[in-house]
Amino acid sequence: MWQTVAVIAGLLVTFTAAITPLETNSWALLVAGSNGYYNYRHQADICHSYHVMINEGIPAEKIIVMMYNDIAYNTDNPTPGVIINKPNGTNVYAGVKIDYTGDDLTPQNFLNILSGNKTSMKGIGTGRDIESDENTNLFVYFADHGGTGMLCFPNDNLMADDLENTLSQMRRKKKYDKFIFYVEACESGSMFDNILPEHTDIFVMTAAARDESSWGWYCDDGTCLGDEFSVRWMEHMDSEKTGTLETFFHQYQHVRTAVTKSHVQVYGDFSLGPEELTPNKKHPTYSETVPGDVVSVSSREAALHYLRHKISKSNDVAEKQKLQNKLDEIVKARKLGDQLFDEFVMAATANSPKVRSLISEEKLGLRKDIFPCYKKLLHRFRTFCFGHENEYFLQHFYKFANICLLSTDVDNLLREMPAICKSHRAAIKVTVV
Ligand SMILES: *[C@@H]1O[C@H](CO)[C@@H](O)[C@H](O)[C@H]1NC(C)=O
Ligand SMILES: *[C@@H]1O[C@H](CO)[C@@H](O)[C@H](O)[C@H]1NC(C)=O
Repeated sequence: MWQTVAVIAGLLVTFTAAITPLETNSWALLVAGSNGYYNYRHQADICHSYHVMINEGIPAEKIIVMMYNDIAYNTDNPTPGVIINKPNGTNVYAGVKIDYTGDDLTPQNFLNILSGNKTSMKGIGTGRDIESDENTNLFVYFADHGGTGMLCFPNDNLMADDLENTLSQMRRKKKYDKFIFYVEACESGSMFDNILPEHTDIFVMTAAARDESSWGWYCDDGTCLGDEFSVRWMEHMDSEKTGTLETFFHQYQHVRTAVTKSHVQVYGDFSLGPEELTPNKKHPTYSETVPGDVVSVSSREAALHYLRHKISKSNDVAEKQKLQNKLDEIVKARKLGDQLFDEFVMAATANSPKVRSLISEEKLGLRKDIFPCYKKLLHRFRTFCFGHENEYFLQHFYKFANICLLSTDVDNLLREMPAICKSHRAAIKVTVV
């Protein structure tokens, strides 16, 4: 008799644990890393996700938002104070409590907020951080540009090794029970592929594989209103209306097969969900086709798409010509930028011409130990060549990573980079986006 009661009590405890609303001990950190109206979609995604979190029952006190906040009242915004995440959508900007804006959006602040380093955030923004413990369910969602082994913030990049160091420190300090991390960015898989260990209770889903771009979505009116991966997971959540985080924590398989333009990847701890996950594939067969009425644009082309749209809409002849000149300059600058990286590869392979094409053409898998070398090249590039705002170069940085991986003549490239860049800097007069 007592044994039966004990068993039933035990079952009840287990059952209760399973249906305890996860939201009671959940925290969410929502981050848009970009600025500029042509990057509208990232902040729109983040605003939308705030409402998804609230609808799932996470209280506002446990949601932290980092976004530049230059979209709602941007002079290009036809509806001041309004941000939408789909055509004719609701105003997702309304009600969003933003903790960190503008230049407070740095990779270091992000890592400090995530890891609960309260003292370091004192006097910055709202100063709030994730106050988590070993029972906390953490959700982090990041949307912005990315490149090989990096995610962009407005003035700097978050590098994959620094992120992994923080994640492993959080693991050691028991800063979470389950940790779900969604990343919308080009080449976002490269942040985790071969870098995040498997048994960490962290489950990551990225919009794109390590060697491909992610896609802007709803781009009819020039600037894209969302990104495909982001829009798909959030519209799925909006349609569920379950009110518990259970479904949220288990929606991977749906989202992975719904995305059409890039290959959604999963990393880390697959045991967090009850579903059996299909392995990462380079070319899965998609379950859905792109709806005919959605205009999608590769993230890499979104800035030019926006500019072309502005030109076509302009009725002022002088203004139209000015924009066209700007577009022509950017297209020219991109070509020069391609040549610049050809010269870098030459400088690094003077004594090893055999690997030249491999370095130029293949996005090789990363290893954590190449990051000191990779960062040295990136730092030199930024110092002597082009600054962070030149987003176009993100898609060339894998060549630096390859040079480090294959240990070709890194020193020679470091030595020659300032001279190589000097002439290109003279020829390129625009921000290369
Ligand atoms: C948005 O609203 C406008 C005006 O009401 C309408 O013409 C258009 O078809 C709508 N677009 C979508 C995608 O619903
Ligand atoms: C907290 O941040 C400060 C400043 O960034 C840093 O010096 C300190 O080491 C961090 N503390 C921990 C525990 O990481």
